Amino acid sequence: MSNILCIGAGYVGGPTMAMIAKNCPEHKITVVDINQERIDCWNSDDLPIYEPGLLDVVRLARGRNLFFQTDVAQAITDAEIIFVSVNTPTKMFGEGAGKAADLQFWEKTARDILDNCRKPNVIVVEKSTLPVRTAEAMAKIFQLGKSSTKFSVVSNPEFLAEGTAIEDLTNPDRVLIGGEQNEIGRKAAETVAELYAHWVPRENILLTNVWSSELSKLVANAMLAQRVSSINSISALCERTEADIEEVSKAIGMDTRIGAKFLEASIGFGGSCFSKDILHLSYLCEYYGLPEAADYWASVVHINEWQINRFFQKILHEQFYTLAGKTITMLGFAFKQDTGDTRDSPAIQLCKKLLGEHAKVRIHDPKALENARIDLKEMQGDVSFEEDVYKALEGAHVLALVTQWAEYRELDFERIYNKMVKPAFVFDGRNHLEHEKLFEIGFNVFPLGKVPLKQV
Ligand code: NAD
Ligand code: UGA
Repeated sequence: MSNILCIGAGYVGGPTMAMIAKNCPEHKITVVDINQERIDCWNSDDLPIYEPGLLDVVRLARGRNLFFQTDVAQAITDAEIIFVSVNTPTKMFGEGAGKAADLQFWEKTARDILDNCRKPNVIVVEKSTLPVRTAEAMAKIFQLGKSSTKFSVVSNPEFLAEGTAIEDLTNPDRVLIGGEQNEIGRKAAETVAELYAHWVPRENILLTNVWSSELSKLVANAMLAQRVSSINSISALCERTEADIEEVSKAIGMDTRIGAKFLEASIGFGGSCFSKDILHLSYLCEYYGLPEAADYWASVVHINEWQINRFFQKILHEQFYTLAGKTITMLGFAFKQDTGDTRDSPAIQLCKKLLGEHAKVRIHDPKALENARIDLKEMQGDVSFEEDVYKALEGAHVLALVTQWAEYRELDFERIYNKMVKPAFVFDGRNHLEHEKLFEIGFNVFPLGKVPLKQV
């Protein structure tokens, strides 16, 4: 039996450790966080994050071999394998502001480990997404200390997506483990691989050197986001040429070299990682003297901002360039369906722009209203939050669909139409609704990358 510790009980630390605990009952897994409220939630049935299927996994292992607590120092004392899953946001000050990774939480953790570890051999696993060569910096911190512990730093980035975390963790496309290229490093990587091998087929566990592993994580997110920006740029061209973005996505996606996934045009990608990781990647290219590569990746984020603004401009244009006093109801605030997470959601930018025009903004989301309230706390203007979707749309001029929650497709749109101001407008930022049906009811419908359906 090993004592395994995870520092950081967030969207990654909580679900990944619950999955390891479920599948490795012989190991004791402790998850620590400095945030007492978060830990209290993990110890209750009201988990701090909404993720389908997560509660079942947590309930199965919690109290058996899965423990959540706040005493970081004490937990480090006993640990032989330490996963570090703290946040690594974009640095907002000093050198590299707005681009580089802010590594203060990560470095604090490294120093906590150094100060408190007592075991003779400790494997430190980078679970957080980190700039390439961070493991080297971590190893340096460990070498500087007076600890007699022998450390091995392994990179094991996480690829789960929110909303499907349990499915992704249960059947990962691959588990990536980067180890130092020496005997101790290979042994450490193998120890981590053995944990996953409890439920992941060996051929899906990929062992690489540390730098490849660190960089692959950033590149995976950059490539995924680049697909979204590519298809979003084409959605604009479709709107000018009467091509249909869904037909184009399908046609190109059937080419097995391109593949069908991640080609859904949208209001723009959001989430805590895509923009942050691409900007880190771009900054790294710049740092290593590759300005052309840096510009290429930065343009993926630029297109995303442009797409969000395009969606807003379309609303403004169709409302005769005046939104003052008009009610705009945003359906969805989370950055994607099946999560309550609103970090970097396009909804935040859209809301800001609408309020800038003095619109009255009403927000509905099945799981993200609490986070939406926090995000918009400081924002000036007439913004309200509504738990009942029909009430949210009463007297609205515009329905703007931002998040593709399944339940939005099932709404009674006749009822909604009857209660909205006429002419009633739908702007579908996800091509999620049945546009023809809405048009027949009487709505003016503005999809993405398609010919709009206007009543007159
Ligand atoms: P998060 O903000 O949800 O969780 C991080 C947690 O770390 C917080 O609860 C915070 O209180 C805690 N923390 C910070 N400093 C600490 C310290 N010194 N000691 C103890 N706890 C500390 O972040 P997240 O979404 O779980 O992301 C964590 C990392 O994983 C990031 O690097 C992110 O890029 C990466 N990642 C995230 C996802 C995702 O879907 N969210 C997926 C893959 C990778
Ligand atoms: C993404 C990656 O998919 C994960 O592999 C990675 O681990 C994670 O980032 C991370 O490092 O944080 P996530 O952001 O949770 O996961 O969700 P995605 O499903 O990737 O969606 C990201 C954004 O792109 C969402 O706003 C989504 O709506 C948007 N998107 C996605 C599109 O607009 N179109 C698509 O075709 C696909």
